[in-house]
Amino acid sequence: MIRLKENEFTDIVEYMRMHYGINLEKKKILIECRMSKTLEKQGLSSFGSYMELLKKDRTEKIAAELINRLTTNYTYFFREVSHFQILTSEIFPKLFQQKRYGPLNIWCAGCSTGEECYTLAMTLQEYMLQSGTCSLVRILGTDISEDVISRAQRGVYPIREIDSIPQSLRPRYCHVEADHKNFQIDEKLKEYIRFKRQNLMEPSAAEKYDLILCRNVMIYFDRTSRKKLVRKLENSLNAGGYLLIGHAELLARDETCLESMHPAVYLKKEREDKENL
Ligand SMILES: C[S@@+](CC[C@H](N)C(=O)[O-])C[C@H]1O[C@@H](n2cnc3c(N)ncnc32)[C@H](O)[C@@H]1O
Repeated sequence: MIRLKENEFTDIVEYMRMHYGINLEKKKILIECRMSKTLEKQGLSSFGSYMELLKKDRTEKIAAELINRLTTNYTYFFREVSHFQILTSEIFPKLFQQKRYGPLNIWCAGCSTGEECYTLAMTLQEYMLQSGTCSLVRILGTDISEDVISRAQRGVYPIREIDSIPQSLRPRYCHVEADHKNFQIDEKLKEYIRFKRQNLMEPSAAEKYDLILCRNVMIYFDRTSRKKLVRKLENSLNAGGYLLIGHAELLARDETCLESMHPAVYLKKEREDKENL
């Protein structure tokens, strides 16, 4: 394994913080473990020469590889399940009423390999079937890592992941492949979702959303980047829209202008939208 010298470690930590908001201050061993093979493949014997290449590279290929290696993409279907119960019982009825004539715009920011987006689409589809409502729905899934975005687009998952999907939903939304090793997400469900690579630390189109899920992303950020991300999410919400974050990421009152409705569920009230203009 290639060892990180102290100045190289500082350099890589600063690069990740500055460009992507990710805090790796306590992750020296993780960097060594996850990056050593990448360096060896490129014939490099030190992180110093790797950082030189990274900073000179105009194709952004080296940065993309760095991101693929150093992000934590852990996720699973129906993660933090209480959120999906609140969506069905409280949030969808309100949003469907508010958006009777327009499309419902949803953003999963930091969606990793797509399980969260597909869980959301299943929950939404079930809600529409059971309530007899119907609306145009658009879900955008974004992540900084190209690797996870292409896996999300494929919508094919190892069979063990099916265990966290309620049994009653499997026949409609999951198609087990002949060899029983993987299952595929139903094509109709996939039509709700568009996936794209996007860095949350960079300015993005001024699109507004009725619902944003940004769960278990800012937990990896440093304080300044977390603040910047919260402002961005607040400004990307329509009045009457909801933000869901991870249960380990609760916002203090002075960290947000959104109203706390349930643990890790926030509402943007009409008044706050005007104040933000
Ligand atoms: C632990 S996963 C969370 C996945 C899903 N939201 C969930 O709760 O299960 C965190 C994801 O955030 C992404 N991420 C980290 N920094 C990011 C940034 N600056 N812009 C966009 N995505 C980022 C990572 O690539 C990773 O896939």
